[in-house]
Amino acid sequence: MAADSDLHTADLDTILDRYARNPNALLQVLREVQELHGYIRPAAISHIGVMLGVPRARVEGVAGFYSFLHLQPHGEYRVLFSDNITDRMQGSQALMEQMCQQLWLQPGKVSEDGLVSINTTSCTGMCDQGPAMLVNGRAITRLTHQRVQEIGSLIRNRTPLSDWPEDFFRVEDNIRRKGPLLDNAIAPGDVLRAALSLSVRPELVEGHRGPTSSPRTEVGAGIVDAIKASGLRGRGGAGFPTGMKWEACRNAAGEARHVVCNADEGEPGTFKDRVLLTSCADLLFEGMTLCALATGARHGYLYLRGEYRYLLERLESALQRRRNTNLLGKNILGQPGFDFDIVIHIGAGAYICGEESALIESLEGKRGVPRNRPPFPVTHGYLQQPTAVDNVETFCSAALAMQMGAEKYRAIGTPKSSGSKLISVSGDCPRPGIYEYPFGVSVRQVLQDCGAVNTRAVQVSGPSGACVAESEFDRKLGFEDLPTAGAFMVFDDSRDLFEVARNFVHFFAHESCGFCTPCRVGTALLKKTMDKIAAGLGTQYDLAEIEHLDHVLQTSSHCGLGRTACNPVLHTLKHFRPAYENRLKSLVFSPAFDLDGALARARQMTGRDDAGAHLKAEGA
Ligand SMILES: Cc1cc2nc3c(=O)[nH]c(=O)nc-3n(C[C@H](O)[C@H](O)[C@H](O)COP(=O)(O)O)c2cc1C
Ligand code: SF4
Repeated sequence: MAADSDLHTADLDTILDRYARNPNALLQVLREVQELHGYIRPAAISHIGVMLGVPRARVEGVAGFYSFLHLQPHGEYRVLFSDNITDRMQGSQALMEQMCQQLWLQPGKVSEDGLVSINTTSCTGMCDQGPAMLVNGRAITRLTHQRVQEIGSLIRNRTPLSDWPEDFFRVEDNIRRKGPLLDNAIAPGDVLRAALSLSVRPELVEGHRGPTSSPRTEVGAGIVDAIKASGLRGRGGAGFPTGMKWEACRNAAGEARHVVCNADEGEPGTFKDRVLLTSCADLLFEGMTLCALATGARHGYLYLRGEYRYLLERLESALQRRRNTNLLGKNILGQPGFDFDIVIHIGAGAYICGEESALIESLEGKRGVPRNRPPFPVTHGYLQQPTAVDNVETFCSAALAMQMGAEKYRAIGTPKSSGSKLISVSGDCPRPGIYEYPFGVSVRQVLQDCGAVNTRAVQVSGPSGACVAESEFDRKLGFEDLPTAGAFMVFDDSRDLFEVARNFVHFFAHESCGFCTPCRVGTALLKKTMDKIAAGLGTQYDLAEIEHLDHVLQTSSHCGLGRTACNPVLHTLKHFRPAYENRLKSLVFSPAFDLDGALARARQMTGRDDAGAHLKAEGA
């Protein structure tokens, strides 16, 4: 790792030039500078600020926001163990301890020789093949004691990552059940050709002409109508009707428009976008291009979570193939004025950037803090211009719906949840992986298919979703009953649901962006309260306090993270209250902060330990 004084500004300028010294590219520049130097040095911050024309404080603020960016050296090898509950269930904590012992290191510290640091990170999206870790950003799956031992030795010998066994980095798709989406036989360009043929179907465009009527705007209106008629709803969690979103973006005032694909996939337990990006990249880009045709956008962005950086080269190749075959670029498929291209933007370890307005901030090279809404991205999105933000699976499903035809697509699933859904199954089952079902499948059916037995509970749609107990296994996945972005974590009867909820609460406290006080303080208090109960110091008062916190967070948080942060506790309390009550100390109040304990140092310094130097116990 080079010292600050060795800074070669020419290397930085090469990176800055590649991004045309555009301040919106600040995050990408910082990410690349870190790849070059190992961390972002003070002199680099100054140089980047000057060259991009942004204040040094902003550069530092952005670098400090993202957990994968570092302003201090963090070791030639930066090891991060994935810390989702499913990784823990597969033994990640013991593996991390083993590696710390092998390398004589404490978690969170850099070794004295500057070789390595070891820590945890939020779910890496590899729950079907965990435990997993990231080493210098590269995902390593299927960790065992032997593999961890080998990794420790490779690090000690300073073996470059490029010489590590390829098998360490193998990421499987684990597709267990295919449906119309994963089984599609759509060739690149098929969907766009089908969409362009809409211009000769006037019944679809009647009364839906864009601001300037032309064959292309008529096609756009036809696409919007077809997607609306298919009943497609967003697959990223909120379930907003996709056709309506595209229509609002298309009709918004202004010339420039953008299409953004949300591939941030940070919800613990979700990994279906990873599989679509690996195996269905062309369908995704087809869907994004379809959206561009519908809305009139010329610029597309794929926001890829940092943990999926390993997919970048593959995705870039797919984009290049499409450019070479006139499926991206100018006059796509020979249609004058049909111009559209896609760039990939890589995130840097911030779950909140999955929230669409935070994602747009991040795309603009800022800290990923959610915006005030309204206005919504469809009118004021990227660069305050109309922007359609959709999930990876939504774009793929839109392409499929277009190809199948609205009626056929709508025939799949349920009245309010048309089409199929990819479910990411992980946890206590012999066949974790991706399962595609028509909407309306029961929890019980999924459990049966993945071979789960003695199941105590299923966490549907990640920590912000719902914890479903055995009595509810006949509930159906879909917007009518159990909406889901895709996570399906299985817990058998050996699992302690209190510890599951505690892990989720730690996740929210860690990922809160800190912008608004209710969430920043509320998630920290919730975490402290759960830790207090775990330590056997909780009381009934704490359980009541959690309900009070939930009310505050729900009513005054700025975004969905804060609003749903108490869900894991409330849901597990509802179904598994004894898991909490068995840990409670007594029925009277005990504060989360031990004031008398905090005075111990003062007593030590003054040499006093008599009764007068202690706070009086209640009733004494
Ligand atoms: C805290 C938070 C995290 C989110 N993370 C994601 C995500 O990783 N991927 C995603 O597609 N949507 C995520 N969303 C939802 C997005 O804000 C947005 O609704 C979605 O991208 C819209 O796409 P869709 O209509 O295709 O679902 C998140 C929302 C919140 C509040
Ligand atoms: S609710 Fe939490 S994550 Fe959302 S803006 Fe407020 S602090 Fe940030």
